[in-house]
Amino acid sequence: MQGFAQYADWFYLIGAVLFILTLRGLSGPKTAIMGNRYGMAGMALAVVTTFFSAPSPVVGLIVAAMVAGAAIGIYRAKTVPMTQMPETVAMMHSLVGLSAVCIAIAAVLHTGVHHDGVHRFELFVGCFVGAITFTASVFAYGKLAAKKWAKTVKGAWVKPTQATLFFAMLAFGANYFISEDINSFYIMTALALALGYIWIAPIGGGDMPVVVSLLNSFSGWAAAGIGFTLNNSMLIIAGSLVGSSGAILSYVMCKAMNRSLMNVLFGGFGAAAAGASVDTGEQKQKNYRSGSPEDAGFLMSNASSVVIVPGYGMAQGRAQNAVKELYNTLKAAGVTIRFAIHPVAGRMPGHMNVLLAEADVPYDDILEMDEINSDFAGTDVVLVIGANDVVNPAAKDDASSPIYGMPILEAYKAQTVMVIKRSMATGYAGLDNDLFYLDKTMMIFGDAKKVVEEMTKAINGSGH
Ligand code: TAP
Repeated sequence: MQGFAQYADWFYLIGAVLFILTLRGLSGPKTAIMGNRYGMAGMALAVVTTFFSAPSPVVGLIVAAMVAGAAIGIYRAKTVPMTQMPETVAMMHSLVGLSAVCIAIAAVLHTGVHHDGVHRFELFVGCFVGAITFTASVFAYGKLAAKKWAKTVKGAWVKPTQATLFFAMLAFGANYFISEDINSFYIMTALALALGYIWIAPIGGGDMPVVVSLLNSFSGWAAAGIGFTLNNSMLIIAGSLVGSSGAILSYVMCKAMNRSLMNVLFGGFGAAAAGASVDTGEQKQKNYRSGSPEDAGFLMSNASSVVIVPGYGMAQGRAQNAVKELYNTLKAAGVTIRFAIHPVAGRMPGHMNVLLAEADVPYDDILEMDEINSDFAGTDVVLVIGANDVVNPAAKDDASSPIYGMPILEAYKAQTVMVIKRSMATGYAGLDNDLFYLDKTMMIFGDAKKVVEEMTKAINGSGH
């Protein structure tokens, strides 16, 4: 395929442009489908170009691997429920890490090839990043899928063990780099595999989405490192795009949660959960008002504008289709109705957008926090469905609150606030929420799906 190989760089360049268009497309729900198509085209071009430009491909093995990979991928894509997306993504990252390790070992084993200093450095970094990504992603998968073997580990021994493994891994890697000792390379790989596990194991399940996003970034850097080893520009570009976009997403998520990356990765989950015990005493003395779904339905059908704020409880209660019914009913009654989405509502990036898209809510009525915050003051009714932290005013006015500084949806500014949740329990951050105790707030207790269905029934029954 000599003739083809000379055009490979051109095809890789087109592939790189397609990947950039992919990221651009994926930045909004309306363009996401097109973004996915660009990604598929770019990936197909990269695979075909690599296949035809390789100097001496082992055709049988490559085709067998591609068929097996495609079959598993198609099966998984068709069967995975939306709710299992985070663990599926974690599993995919583990494969990127594993392939980086395999390629690095294959390159080290390649007899008759002398790796110069730069090459050994790329192999050493690409391999340990890949190995950490592999075991950490497998563990993240286990945690998100609630597997028994993926238990959170705790104890005073954890941090010293992490530090020891980290420095030992670097020492053996450096020894391979300096003395070309292959055994040091293998020991470094084994230590990196252990480090991936012990780094992730103490992190609580709730922080896993940030970790998965960071692992996404790592898998990109591992791929880029291996791209240098294989001298493949496509892999370097695609790896760098994944690496940097994953890093940006992790940063954005941490900022929206008002936590530092270091706190998520090394502070443990306890810091956030600790807030719960501080607030429970105060809760008992405060008064709140509760109402029935029928009262709430009546109020909303007589409002001119309603904003729905969905949160983790909507996902937990699988209420999205019932919410779409309520949306249709209010719209038919002439109410202006829109959705307000906080960047970290739910438990994974885009959680609410995915659920609302699944229920076929039109994109034009789904607004991001920055787009809708200035409209709350002029809104008649805000209906909060299973959200808590993302509408907690303490983030704005209580400097002692752990979430102080986190941007929130300013639901408290609306004329009337209605909150659907099962109890007065706290949300993810473990904090009480003053929004629930305002005079203008009505609590409607119950499971999100059931309450929303009853609201719709009440509106339909009232003749609206
Ligand atoms: P949360 O603050 O976690 O509150 C959810 C509320 O939903 C709970 O207070 C719960 O109260 C209620 N609920 C649960 N199941 C319900 C059901 N079946 N029916 C009705 N209500 C139900 O959720 P949020 O406002 O969406 O905020 C998200 C939180 O997760 C933030 O603190 C964010 O930082 C964190 N987080 C987000 C992400 C991403 S990327 N989205 C990642 C990690 C962490 P009851 O028990 O009383 O019903």
